[in-house]
Amino acid sequence: MAFIRSVIRGVGAHLPKRVMTNDDLSRLVDTTDAWIRERTGIEERHIAEEGELTSDLGIAASRQALVRAGIDPVDIDLVVCATSTPDRTFPATGVRIQAGLGITRGAAFDVQAVCSGFIYALSIADNFLKTGQFKRAVVVGAETFSRILDWSDRGTCVLFGDGAGAVVLEAQTQLGSREDRGILATRIRSDGRFEDLLYVDGGPGSTKTTGHLRMNGREVFRHAVQKIAGVIEETLVMTGYAPGEVDLYVPHQANKRILDGIAHRLGIEPAKIVYTLARHGNTSAASIPLALNQALEDRRLTEGRLVLMEAMGGGLTWGAALARW
Ligand code: UT7
Repeated sequence: MAFIRSVIRGVGAHLPKRVMTNDDLSRLVDTTDAWIRERTGIEERHIAEEGELTSDLGIAASRQALVRAGIDPVDIDLVVCATSTPDRTFPATGVRIQAGLGITRGAAFDVQAVCSGFIYALSIADNFLKTGQFKRAVVVGAETFSRILDWSDRGTCVLFGDGAGAVVLEAQTQLGSREDRGILATRIRSDGRFEDLLYVDGGPGSTKTTGHLRMNGREVFRHAVQKIAGVIEETLVMTGYAPGEVDLYVPHQANKRILDGIAHRLGIEPAKIVYTLARHGNTSAASIPLALNQALEDRRLTEGRLVLMEAMGGGLTWGAALARW
């Protein structure tokens, strides 16, 4: 039976030029390169320049994805941007990206699910494409977390970085089998009872300020392994795949120990994991498309591969997606 799938036609990425190393951070707060590497796997991160906005990073990443897809921006009718660091309170950064790409039709909006934002955005775009409401979508994860960090808090400022990644999706008719190309399944979850574990202590509706990121790292870590492993299992059950059949595991890049812990728990071989956190740190909603881009450039992401993506972030929110490239 014919079935519409969202096929991933292109991937792109953009990182700010400026690199901040762990040693640079040790001059700002009481930390060491050794602590950051051992506890997180992070070695350096990119930081946006003054005036370099989330939309600027998102536009650059989207342009690259469109060129690689061989799709003209005028043929895009949906732009979904996952971000927690919008240029402005409104309009949506997605609308600014839409305008920057020269797209004047269809719809554009933001999705706010913090580090799970890309999985949420992918899931939303996939559902719109499957129902036939839109035909081609750009899904962007773009962040400038450097702007909401408390640069005196060593427990958080060493973890995050700036960047953007994007994918281009196209609705294509497939057979409706598990061998189809495109997004095979997505699962998104949230539980607001855990808000206090990871949040920003400001906002237009409460303090009229932007605020700073606050996190109980140890507790978030504990929830991450358990919740992500659970949602991956659900996603695999939906499609009938076993963890061993996954070709490439592209997780949100929060902490190397979390990634390794989940892979170990599910029985995913270490060689299948894509790591970018050494070079990027945690770029929140941008980390999965940045990792997809890395895998593409390393020639690990080729047609036919079964790709598993997952994330957890503030909310708490979490989710997973399975796609055949
Ligand atoms: O992407 C959204 C989701 N976010 C995450 O998934 C993050 C999850 N959490 C983590 O990745 C880890 O919990 C952290 C990397 C944030 C922290 O690692 P940890 O092993 O859980 O350390 P901890 O918070 O238990 O702290 C251990 C010690 C503490 O010192 P005492 O109390 O034992 O004396 C901290 O004060 O390490 C200290 N510490 C640091 N020391 C040097 C915390 N941050 C630093 C630092 N440099 N930057």
